[in-house]
Amino acid sequence: MATFMPLPSMLVAFILFSAHAPSSQAYRIWLPQNPSPHEAASFMQRHQHPHNDSGSKRFEGSSPFVHMQYHMGPVLTSSIRVYIIWYGRWTSTQKATIRDFLRSFSMGPAHRRPTVGGWWNTVQLYTDQTGSNISKSVMVAGEAYDHFSHGTILSRMSVQEVIRDSIKNGSLVVDSNGGLYMVLTSKEVQMQDFCRAVCGFHYFTFPSIVGYTLPYAWIGNSAQQCPQFCAYPFAVPSYMIGFAPLKPPNRDVGVDGMISVIGHELAELSSNPLINAWYAGNDPSAPTEIADLCEGIYGSGGGGSYMGSVLLDGSGASYNMHGVKKRRYLVQWIWNPSVSYCTGPNAAD
Ligand SMILES: *[C@@H]1O[C@H](CO)[C@@H](O)[C@H](O)[C@H]1NC(C)=O
Ligand SMILES: *[C@@H]1O[C@H](CO)[C@@H](O)[C@H](O)[C@H]1NC(C)=O
Ligand SMILES: *[C@@H]1O[C@H](CO)[C@@H](O)[C@H](O)[C@H]1NC(C)=O
Repeated sequence: MATFMPLPSMLVAFILFSAHAPSSQAYRIWLPQNPSPHEAASFMQRHQHPHNDSGSKRFEGSSPFVHMQYHMGPVLTSSIRVYIIWYGRWTSTQKATIRDFLRSFSMGPAHRRPTVGGWWNTVQLYTDQTGSNISKSVMVAGEAYDHFSHGTILSRMSVQEVIRDSIKNGSLVVDSNGGLYMVLTSKEVQMQDFCRAVCGFHYFTFPSIVGYTLPYAWIGNSAQQCPQFCAYPFAVPSYMIGFAPLKPPNRDVGVDGMISVIGHELAELSSNPLINAWYAGNDPSAPTEIADLCEGIYGSGGGGSYMGSVLLDGSGASYNMHGVKKRRYLVQWIWNPSVSYCTGPNAAD
């Protein structure tokens, strides 16, 4: 999959990170983290002058080398119920922004377009062996609060203990038919590989820790640790001289940055919940999943280091879809298996 990456340095970064980090992470692979001056200049060049071939505008992310394949495992075809664990310290405004995003997946057509529901339509194109599509119905089925039970440093294993503890004391139920567990950590919480190699990841829990095999994801608020990386483009790396960060539509750099990562992880959890359904590449320990292929693409013309064209609200904030309660969000596009490129609800035609 890395063959279409524009810069050799990114290819190297991808190989390095995928070697030590377990599967299924959201990672801003197109955004160099510590580039040499030459790489930074080259990045800026591409960023400011996206390829301008009108003939290719409709094939965001396309590559003849991508073979998205179905590996016979289940996808989430019955109503999807998300269980949130708010780990650490969250304000009610932050929680409302995220809840409203999740409540927008199933929104009907009677809303101002483009919509979050229209964005989820691309995910619904994926089917299982029986030809059943991923469900349109996504809801928040339960929420638990965890005030730093495992401190401020978590690992891929201790995050499973966080899930276990909320189930054990009855804050959350065990839901193995369409249940997804999502641990959201507040800005002071460090996670293994956070910022260095991941902005979020998904996997399934181990029976030896949690007692059940449940698909789960972790997404961190990067505001304090690496917003220029995980909340890009609402914060930008210092080498992007002359490029001002975009204004976040919900006025919270960290949370608006998380929204796209949450969308990324839920799209992948639904299409590859047990890491044996939809992914490209031959290595199930480092699968390239349906959102990985469209990292950094938010609108028509996107690709390379150009995000594509998005919308501006009255206050100058950038977004590419509407949600419930007049919310606006900026969310990356998803790989479309029918056309073999990335699509989203705000496509130019
Ligand atoms: C795209 O290319 C055309 C013709 O080469 C040029 O006139 C136009 O300014 C370019 N647009 C951008 C955004 O670079
Ligand atoms: C279900 O998936 C098939 C195959 O991708 C697609 O043609 C069809 O439109 C999908 N149905 C829905 C409701 O998305
Ligand atoms: C359940 O356990 C978690 C983790 O230990 C804790 O933070 C939370 O307050 C507990 N909730 C209840 C209702 O006991």
